[in-house]
Amino acid sequence: MKKILVTGGTGYIGSHTVVELINSGYKIVIADNLTNSKIEVLDRIEKITGIKPQFEKLDISDSKATKAFFETNNDIELVIHFAAYKAVGESVQKPLMYYQNNLNSLMNILTEMSRHNIENLIFSSSCTVYGQPDILPVTEQSPIKKADSPYGNTKQVAEEIISDTIFSNKNLKSIALRYFNPIGAHKSALIGELPIGVPNNLIPFVTQTVAGKREQLSVFGNNYNTEDGTAIRDYIHVVDLAQAHLVATERLLDKNNKLDFETFNIGTGRGNSVLEVINTFEEVTGEKINYKIAPRRLGDIEKVWADTTFANKELGWKAKLSLADALLSAWNWEKTQ
Ligand code: NAD
Ligand code: UFG
Repeated sequence: MKKILVTGGTGYIGSHTVVELINSGYKIVIADNLTNSKIEVLDRIEKITGIKPQFEKLDISDSKATKAFFETNNDIELVIHFAAYKAVGESVQKPLMYYQNNLNSLMNILTEMSRHNIENLIFSSSCTVYGQPDILPVTEQSPIKKADSPYGNTKQVAEEIISDTIFSNKNLKSIALRYFNPIGAHKSALIGELPIGVPNNLIPFVTQTVAGKREQLSVFGNNYNTEDGTAIRDYIHVVDLAQAHLVATERLLDKNNKLDFETFNIGTGRGNSVLEVINTFEEVTGEKINYKIAPRRLGDIEKVWADTTFANKELGWKAKLSLADALLSAWNWEKTQ
């Protein structure tokens, strides 16, 4: 059997996806430059699956190094492209760093895929492409609005680059998965999201506050037009998200499938407010969260959750795990850190 290249495969979503792929019998090669992950993840994957995936330390934004990698790894059938920078706030401060890394990496991957006749690409997109949707839940047909950040713009432009490349190369097929808010960790608590610096995201801030690493959680805004006044997101368990990559892989490898470029919302279809997240966390863990209401965070949207009908019907995929499952797994992961 040929291999699946997982770029960014030692990262948060990549590592969970590699576990699902190995458990389903796929052969994996991970390429990652370890700018936001640790090599130990490979041992953790081996502990969970019994198999240590092949690993190549590679900066995919470096075209020469990427070309050399594809020349020596000539048995790749499908690429799952996770490798990117992902911090929204940082992208506003360092836009060129984001455009260079995220877009050059994608273009290098597409160039080498075309050169080596590799037909299948799964791309990590984001619900940020929708901005604040006018209609909720948001479907894949909703208009793409001007991105709120350079990071968000890299995802919009990336989808266009893929679509244009497919138009010019009829052998190439791609699925872009638009993730909503991935949270939680593998049930083994052996892999999860690497805690680096002060977290921007809600769940790591919650778990670190309860663990005593942060003094107090700030709830950004309680005057939104929602039931309890706090903002709403669609929080998806990272293992459900990983499994969406498995079904997307099967869909692309199905020779009867004549798709060219498809985008899917990968969320639960449920929206939860910040206060609902806090209450659920307290219920499932029995821990108390020290929080205060703070002003709104600049650039935040009020509410978004996914219409997942297309993914449910076409991919035959549905998120199975609950918010409670995800929060408990996040807490179990935190306790190992
Ligand atoms: P992550 O930072 O944990 O993983 C990304 C991995 O890519 C890291 O291991 C990093 O070392 C690697 N990497 C970055 N640039 C690279 C390069 N030039 N060459 C090789 N490796 C490189 O992030 P994640 O949360 O797992 O996100 C994976 C993908 O999903 C990203 O494309 C991200 O934009 C997208 N995404 C994430 C979220 C989220 O909330 N986590 C939401 C929507 C979309
Ligand atoms: N929040 C707080 N306090 C905090 C952190 C967050 O109240 O300390 C609130 C935010 O205001 C927001 C919600 O919790 O209402 C979720 O915030 P996150 O920062 O966890 O997530 P975002 O929805 O802002 O963005 C995340 C990722 C993006 C990704 C997007 C969609 O950071 O990269 O989900 O997938 F694109």
